[in-house]
Amino acid sequence: MKLTYPLTGLLSLFTLVSAQSDSGSFVDADTGITFQSATVTEDITYRLALPADASAEKPYDVIIQVVAPIELGWVAWAWGGSMTYNPLTVVWANGKSATYSSRQALGYYTPVMYEDAKYTVLKGTGTNSTHFKFTALCSGCASWPDFDGNPSTLDGAGQVNFAYAYSRTPVDEPANSETTFSIHDSVGHWTHDLGAARSDKFSSWVAANKVTNSTLRRHVHVGRYGY
Ligand code: HEM
Ligand SMILES: *[C@@H]1O[C@H](CO)[C@@H](O)[C@H](O)[C@H]1NC(C)=O
Ligand SMILES: *[C@@H]1O[C@H](CO)[C@@H](O)[C@H](O)[C@H]1NC(C)=O
Repeated sequence: MKLTYPLTGLLSLFTLVSAQSDSGSFVDADTGITFQSATVTEDITYRLALPADASAEKPYDVIIQVVAPIELGWVAWAWGGSMTYNPLTVVWANGKSATYSSRQALGYYTPVMYEDAKYTVLKGTGTNSTHFKFTALCSGCASWPDFDGNPSTLDGAGQVNFAYAYSRTPVDEPANSETTFSIHDSVGHWTHDLGAARSDKFSSWVAANKVTNSTLRRHVHVGRYGY
């Protein structure tokens, strides 16, 4: 199935097809987490797991996972389905690790740092010979203030439209989450089934994948996905 939608002129078509989700169930061997997973383009995959009671009624945390080929300089997830005024998760390879940056775009220029989304990096984060992979608990990815300042929350029981962007050009300082980077080569949209991403195992998945000091020490020796 083709998952990308040209952005100009096809938005009404996009609305028509958006009732059908682009995500499917996927069990990640590195974490044991069952995600709703969508591979959008260029072998870039976005994954999500939610608490069992997630809905539009109140904010909730999410577990996110992004996997992309190391040929890409950065890949990003726009939680509101467009570039501006919503949380952006930007991810890139950094040596044997993978780095994220929490951003928000205030216009069509380099997004600024965004403090209202908090990430806890989990196991399943690293870079091998072909891909980088980032896994984290995010508090504040699925909720943010609307234009009037009122909190709005993605419908955790429904299907949600997200946007992606990626570039083949590396970020300027891969070790620095506040780095500058240049404009995307491409952007697009996909529809994620949040209702199907919910599980009563959510908290145990978070607990089982917390990164500890001994994990970090082993990371230095083994260097593949940090554990
Ligand atoms: C240096 C960084 C960036 C620059 C300079 C930049 C610039 C731009 C520009 C000029 C457009 C076209 C606007 C138009 O069609 O009139 C655009 C569109 C777009 N950008 Fe970015 N962008 C950057 C980073 C990002 C990031 C990190 C994301 C995250 C997913 C993103 C997502 C999008 C999307 C989805 C669109 C389509 C139009 C929309 O949704 O508003 N961009 N960007
Ligand atoms: C590298 O990571 C990707 C993404 O997790 C995985 O599909 C691939 O099998 C890994 N390759 C090696 C050599 O471990
Ligand atoms: C790691 O070790 C340092 C120093 O012993 C300690 O301060 C820190 O809380 C530990 N972090 C975790 C996640 O255990």
